Amino acid sequence: MHTFDNLTYLVNGLYIIAFGMFIYGLMGLTGPKTAVRGNLIAAVGMVIAVVATLISVRHTSNWILIIAGLVVGIALGVPPAKFTKMTAMPQLVAAFNGVGGGTVALIAWSEFINSQGFSHFDEEPTVHIVVGSLFAAIIGSVSFWGSLIAFGKLQEILPGRPIGLGKLQQPLNLLLLVGAIAAAVVIGVGATNDGVSQLWMIAVLVLAGVLGLAVVLPIGGADMPVVISLLNALTGLSAAAAGLALNNTAMIVAGMIVGASGTILTNLMAKAMNRSIPAIVAGGFGGGGTAPGAGGDGEAKQAKATSAADAAIQMAYANQVIVVPGYGMAVAQAQHAVKEMAALLEAKGVEVKYAIHPVAGRMPGHMNVLLAEAEVSYDALKEMDDINGEFGRTDVALVIGANDVTNPAAREDKSSPIYGMPVLNVDQAKSVIVLKRSMNSGFAGIDNPLFYADHTSMLFGDAKKSVGAVTEELKAL
Ligand code: TAP
Repeated sequence: MHTFDNLTYLVNGLYIIAFGMFIYGLMGLTGPKTAVRGNLIAAVGMVIAVVATLISVRHTSNWILIIAGLVVGIALGVPPAKFTKMTAMPQLVAAFNGVGGGTVALIAWSEFINSQGFSHFDEEPTVHIVVGSLFAAIIGSVSFWGSLIAFGKLQEILPGRPIGLGKLQQPLNLLLLVGAIAAAVVIGVGATNDGVSQLWMIAVLVLAGVLGLAVVLPIGGADMPVVISLLNALTGLSAAAAGLALNNTAMIVAGMIVGASGTILTNLMAKAMNRSIPAIVAGGFGGGGTAPGAGGDGEAKQAKATSAADAAIQMAYANQVIVVPGYGMAVAQAQHAVKEMAALLEAKGVEVKYAIHPVAGRMPGHMNVLLAEAEVSYDALKEMDDINGEFGRTDVALVIGANDVTNPAAREDKSSPIYGMPVLNVDQAKSVIVLKRSMNSGFAGIDNPLFYADHTSMLFGDAKKSVGAVTEELKAL
């Protein structure tokens, strides 16, 4: 029987304030203008939740450990969050997510040790404690080891290409999953005595950890952002399960928010790439293909090359130019150069807009973040659905290091692997200038008929250098 003192009411009240701030902060993350404020609000909410938790454990004798944990966490967390480059954000998210999953697995393990295999509770442990802890141990361990591999691939410590056992991979994964669940069931039904139950718990953690490695290793480096989002959702769920076991409302609510938002984000990313989550998890394209651009139809088509001078003239006399940024703009770090070029065009009376595809680049919001860093006005950034109708009345579409997100085959060619993926209707512009280094394909490893269209010309070279050259020509006009 619980007795509620005033401090318990205070703790619960603070938790409710924190939850409100998490949700309000998350709402802010839906648009670039409010994202920074939203992040700050959610962070303050988390500080409140931590303070409330510290109040609730005030009778503990472990203050030194708690303070040491806070100091180590702050010391390890703040520098990478402050100094990591925008292009390395996906691996930072993978690392942060991994430690979250690992923490949950450790909490589940320590709860298990404290309760000596759940069998020496003062009262019989309830189902939600046992199931919650075991679920948290499995998912937390999968998430920790999976995120570690995702981090290694994105940081290029591990090869980005899929590493797997081919046809044996899926049966092995299934075996590991069944093994981890079976070991958990053995513990859950209390079929072990205390001496060996620790070994069963270690078996759960190890089997789930190997499963995390085995699932993520065969996935191509370029699919990692989707996988990280999926692992993030899993970490949230495991935290919620640990919250159930610990009877901690804050963990349940925060875990469910992370689980739900991670699941929604994973779905949106998969949908925008016209891929299914099982297909991504099973591996597939995404190994970073660089197939040369053949024309298709057995007939070699020719793409037309243009010069910086011609591109500058074409744009200077346009009424409207739509810039279509893609992964290549991120690789070249061309965003500042793009902003400078756009300013010159605007000074000549040209309207410049930016068409943002939801999966342009390699992480959600990649283009928004880069362009915001270059201080491009948010109002000039147009989402795909808002801008697609405008290409038909646009004089020049300037594609900067984008490829798949502009591929008309996704609309027209039923045999294309990306058929059905929503794309920017760049081909409908009166003329198209594409900035890239070669005729190599993009992430999906497929050819892009846009490059061979009569009204398209290619400005070959590194995007930053090409944009710089166009800018110099514009200055001279
Ligand atoms: P991609 O289709 O990957 O094409 C990028 C192009 O940039 C390449 O064709 C490459 O051609 C060019 N490029 C690379 N470095 C360059 C440089 N320094 N200067 C100029 N060009 C350069 O990019 P996209 O159109 O942005 O599409 C994104 C793709 O990634 C989609 O297929 C999407 O499904 C996938 N994806 C996205 C995400 C998220 S969440 N954004 C996550 C996972 C996968 P050259 O080599 O010839 O220069």
